Amino acid sequence: MNSFIHPFKAGDKLCVAGHHITINRQIASGSRMHVYIVDDPQHPEQLILKEVFKQPSLNKQYYGCGRWEYETQQELQDHPNIVKTLGGQPHEEDRRRFLILMEYAPYGDLKQVLEKYGRVEYNTAWLFYEQIVAALGYMHREEVVHGDIAARNIFIFSEGVAKIGDFGNGYISAPCPPGQAMTRGERDDLKAAARCLARMLVGNLDGLKDLEEVPDEGGVPGFLADHSDWARRMSAQDCWFIRQQFWRDFPGVRSPRPTEPLAV
Ligand SMILES: Nc1ncnc2c1ncn2[C@@H]1O[C@H](COP(=O)(O)OP(=O)(O)OP(=O)(O)O)[C@@H](O)[C@H]1O
Ligand SMILES: [Mg+2]
Repeated sequence: MNSFIHPFKAGDKLCVAGHHITINRQIASGSRMHVYIVDDPQHPEQLILKEVFKQPSLNKQYYGCGRWEYETQQELQDHPNIVKTLGGQPHEEDRRRFLILMEYAPYGDLKQVLEKYGRVEYNTAWLFYEQIVAALGYMHREEVVHGDIAARNIFIFSEGVAKIGDFGNGYISAPCPPGQAMTRGERDDLKAAARCLARMLVGNLDGLKDLEEVPDEGGVPGFLADHSDWARRMSAQDCWFIRQQFWRDFPGVRSPRPTEPLAV
């Protein structure tokens, strides 16, 4: 979708949070953002500049704008699997544009990796999944829900390092109801991480709906007999682990269904 903001061009020079950067090339665009690879003479590696702008219809809304996204990312810097930011500020000449400078993931996002390689090798897939879940655990302890965990928001830095980025849909967690392990938003982040794991292992999500219908561990061999691509890529235990992440009434989590009023 085209944006109402004209993107920067290769060679444009900007100062963001004290970094004198030069636009190298644009790598992504959408209705609310442009993303560029940039050069910073004081930094040996290339960096990413993401500019987030408000749509005219959203002008009065704070939620979802670049400052919120930057501040959320900035508050979560104390974890190795969260994309590092080097600073952020509004564009001095056009304050609708909020500029976020961050580290560059050379392999791009996980969606691009899956498009290129089809899937991710077994041990690497589990390693990336562990890193995603570790970063989510940290975010949730900091009372932030990511709200948009998906392959396109996981950034791959090397064969051994994946990081969570794109905090534009993040929000402060609702208080966790007494006696419950986590909020629904936190649960949804973890379910989305398990979808990423399934995509990394199998290469697609065909069969995930069928897996969700498997009632208990005893049903896994039947599922695997019908889904040879899953059977080739994981053990029954792995498969059941992924299935459990989608458990509708996972203990301690608020049910999405309305509960009966309590009898008094
Ligand atoms: N740090 C980075 N390193 C490498 N590529 C990046 C980085 N940040 C963003 N990109 C590229 O730009 C794309 C868009 O960035 P991002 O996900 O932050 O924007 P968005 O519009 O908020 O995303 P979405 O499409 O999820 O709504 C990413 O999917 C990725 O391809
Ligand atoms: Mg994104």
